[in-house]
Amino acid sequence: MGSLPADAHYPDASDRSLVLTHPTAAEKEQTWRLNHGEWGGPLDLATYLEREPFLASTPLAADGGMLHWILTDASPAQSTAQNEKRRVLASCETIRKRVLYVSRSGGEVREGLGYGIGSVYTYPEFRGKKYAARMLRELGVVLKTWPEEEHLRKKDSQTRGQDNGASDGSRPGEQSNAQTKLQMAESKEAVCSALWSDIGKRFYASKGWPVFASGHVEFPSSSLSSLPGICSLLEQSAQPHKTSLTLAPVNTSNLAQLCAEDEAQIRAELVQHARETHRTAFAFAPEYDASEVRGMIATVTNPTNGAAEPDATKAEEKTRMWAVWTRNYGADAASNPAQNTLYILRLVIDNTGTAPSDAKALQLAFDAVLHSALDAARTWHCGAVHLWNPTPAVRALIAGSGVAHRFVDREVDSIPSMMWYGPDGAKNEKEEDAVDWIANEKYCWC
Ligand SMILES: CC(C)(COP(=O)(O)OP(=O)(O)OC[C@H]1O[C@@H](n2cnc3c(N)ncnc32)[C@H](O)[C@@H]1OP(=O)(O)O)[C@@H](O)C(=O)NCCC(=O)NCCS
Repeated sequence: MGSLPADAHYPDASDRSLVLTHPTAAEKEQTWRLNHGEWGGPLDLATYLEREPFLASTPLAADGGMLHWILTDASPAQSTAQNEKRRVLASCETIRKRVLYVSRSGGEVREGLGYGIGSVYTYPEFRGKKYAARMLRELGVVLKTWPEEEHLRKKDSQTRGQDNGASDGSRPGEQSNAQTKLQMAESKEAVCSALWSDIGKRFYASKGWPVFASGHVEFPSSSLSSLPGICSLLEQSAQPHKTSLTLAPVNTSNLAQLCAEDEAQIRAELVQHARETHRTAFAFAPEYDASEVRGMIATVTNPTNGAAEPDATKAEEKTRMWAVWTRNYGADAASNPAQNTLYILRLVIDNTGTAPSDAKALQLAFDAVLHSALDAARTWHCGAVHLWNPTPAVRALIAGSGVAHRFVDREVDSIPSMMWYGPDGAKNEKEEDAVDWIANEKYCWC
């Protein structure tokens, strides 16, 4: 499948007979076999072939949340009739996401559909023939109205009493519990599609996905020896009449609540940002796959008015911060920690308490979260902790932590790139039409 004899005819990428559609199960497997070298990491081929269908079955991806797409030159029916297999000229995946935004004219937060695009791939024998470009241009257009198209396709197949031929395993219109929030989307049209380019800043930008901030701060996990670790921070704060620090792990029992609290803060920030800048502000809603993430919540309680003991019942005396993280392993994970990274998916400074501006408490909370992440990185054999696009407030806390770090502007890998379909802000062509991406952190990535 997909391989051609040397003298084979390659269709022109602009040929009207080429179609964007969904792969069969066999075509998906063939694609995974080929792109295992790109994205298999430490997994051998057999494990990778098990993982990819598993990923598509996780709550946020199941029931049409994740779709596989191909550019091809024939329908499965035609191929069968001609007793030959159609050619997979390019392939990719999309995952449906919930997006929050406030248009530049202000007003309330609106909720809409967004798509993450990933695993853009062209089989080696078809590269350089603009097939990926053709697929992406069509996809960019199709995704804008995909929910509506999905609906029409489902109606059509129900009328005909059969499936629509898409062999993606997805049943358009049917959604799992994890997808129900997406049904709340106000519009039938998508608001944006985003991808994270691993091939620099030009390829996708030229096809309608302009680039956004791609910086991160990197903390080597080995750099702590001369600094107090998490135990020492806890000991210091355990003394009477002192500020007290408590730590609680992020786990499946509190993750949903933390996401809800984070979303409430993001909503408020979007409103404020649009009001102050008169620019459209958007963010991905924080929804995590609970099976993959860990993290730490640090709470700092200050004694007030000379009280002998901090009053734990007074929420207003508390400063709280949390981080959610995951790990990523390179091909030589066991022997080479430098290839393994602990990614802070999201760092949240809880500003709902009354002490969010207590500089000392904030610093202590940040140090505790950072040291916990570094501990986890060492335990998991990760050479570094990465945090994407830290805000100015977080940058100040990084400086205050005394932990060795460096800032990196990525030019090639994981470049956030976004096509905006929503109101106000069309294509980022003009400065005044620009859309600002709030909380552009790793949790958005797919
Ligand atoms: C990237 C990829 C999908 C392009 O597929 P393709 O069908 O050959 O793409 P097209 O023919 O439409 O376009 C080729 C363009 O891609 C650019 N390109 C391909 N690989 C690139 C790379 N690693 N870095 C930068 N640009 C690259 C080419 O320079 C060419 O640019 P041009 O249009 O300015 O001449 C394909 O090379 C591939 O599958 N690579 C391996 C997987 C991968 O890296 N995917 C991208 C993940 S973000």
